[in-house]
Amino acid sequence: MDHSPDHRPPSARSRRRLLTPVAVTAAAVAATIAAASTAHAGTTLGGAAAETGRYYGAAIAAYKLSDSQYVGILDREFNAVTPENEMKWDATEPTQGQFRYTGADQIVSHAQAHGMRVRGHTLLWHAQQPGWAQNLSGTALRSAAINHVTQVATHFKGKIYAWDVVNEAFADGSSGARRDSNLQRTGNDWIEAAFRAARAADPGAKLCYNDYNTDGVNAKSTGVYNMVRDFKARGVPIDCVGFQSHLGTGMPGDYQANLQRFADLGVDVQITELDIEQGSNQATLYGNVTRACLAVSRCTGITVWGIRDSDSWRTGQNPLLFDGGGNRKPAYTAVLNALNAGGTTTPPTTPPPTTTPPPSSPPPPSGSGCTASLSLQSWTGGFVANVHVTAGSSAISRWTVRIALPSGTVVTNTWSAQSSASTGTVDFRNVDYNGQVGAGGSTDFGFQGTGFGPSGTPTCTAG
Ligand code: G3I
Repeated sequence: MDHSPDHRPPSARSRRRLLTPVAVTAAAVAATIAAASTAHAGTTLGGAAAETGRYYGAAIAAYKLSDSQYVGILDREFNAVTPENEMKWDATEPTQGQFRYTGADQIVSHAQAHGMRVRGHTLLWHAQQPGWAQNLSGTALRSAAINHVTQVATHFKGKIYAWDVVNEAFADGSSGARRDSNLQRTGNDWIEAAFRAARAADPGAKLCYNDYNTDGVNAKSTGVYNMVRDFKARGVPIDCVGFQSHLGTGMPGDYQANLQRFADLGVDVQITELDIEQGSNQATLYGNVTRACLAVSRCTGITVWGIRDSDSWRTGQNPLLFDGGGNRKPAYTAVLNALNAGGTTTPPTTPPPTTTPPPSSPPPPSGSGCTASLSLQSWTGGFVANVHVTAGSSAISRWTVRIALPSGTVVTNTWSAQSSASTGTVDFRNVDYNGQVGAGGSTDFGFQGTGFGPSGTPTCTAG
């Protein structure tokens, strides 16, 4: 598998000077003061990204959650996580039909306890398949793969912000075609079958296609683009595209334009596995990538592929934001400054997935600075509720949505909000990354429970 970084020189140079710890100039000091005096300047990556309505995440490993330095940085800086290996097929279904979620559950619990989003990575991929799947083909492999998607997405239902449903299915080079793999040989429709199964299993999760060397406009990214356009045209459920962005000492000059062309298809875009080889321009490139995301309103967040250089899969390239001792690098400062300089646009919250039914509650009361509407997916004995919070004519900095639950109903899981109780009348308050909503803007949270879903009208109060 070739993950060779794209070495094209960056043509989009920064228009702003960046503050670095090693070169503090008068302009940089002025920039710092300007940032500090900005009403909502963030002091951490997650906090600063949240000010723009986005998340800043890291890939993490369950076995490192006992490393206090690692967890200290994680909890301080990041508001999203991606399990680096724990949700892959070989980890979750090592024997056919026997599922193992130990490491993945550990990561999800940590994320929930700290108000972090979880990107699920990944349901189907030609690599890191368990041996038994590698030995299957045809109908047997197709059924096993779809069963895997259904089982894993069901296990994590309600806990995943976005799933990389399919990873790296396109070939490198100039063909723009699908990569040959055992999955591809089951039929060209394997990707859409996986997306439909994922939607059925977890209707609240955004469903992404994720790939590498698709970070600029090229034959491979155009192949993906054509697939996404086709899926949107035919109603195949896809909500987002992940751009891994394993970069060398350069980046495509059309990086932002490439993100934008996908966003224009009506999907969110996310930078999902960012790491940049250390060279003289590492900080500049990190700043450029950050600004590119901020410039695209549907770029909803950035994830770096590891925390410290010593955690990276790219041994010796020191491609991350913290050094092996856990210290912030100039690249960190470049990212923080870029985030604090802000996006000129707030990303619209993606409309609910195409299969989500229309709101089941009557129009919400207004006049309290925000409104909330609720949509339900119910089954015998349980439900998932998605709540859409919309700011009124003024921006809001925090919100509380009050929902009365029927007698006997228990909330078992909440995401993108903190709940005051699990039964009765429950107040759902924003978490750190979604309290700020621009005038007329919106955000979403959700919860899952046993019993009957709420039938009353939620009320929203802005703080
Ligand atoms: O956990 C075992 C350990 O018990 C054993 O002693 C050791 C010996 O090789 O292997 C360990 O597992 C390794 C695992 O990382 C955990 O460190 C696997 O061999 C190794 O293959 C695996 O590498 C992962 C790689 O995906 C697999 O292809 C990297 O950590 C992970 O960063 C990398 O992530 C991928 C994304 O999923 C998709 N995009 C590209 C990206 C980078 O390759």
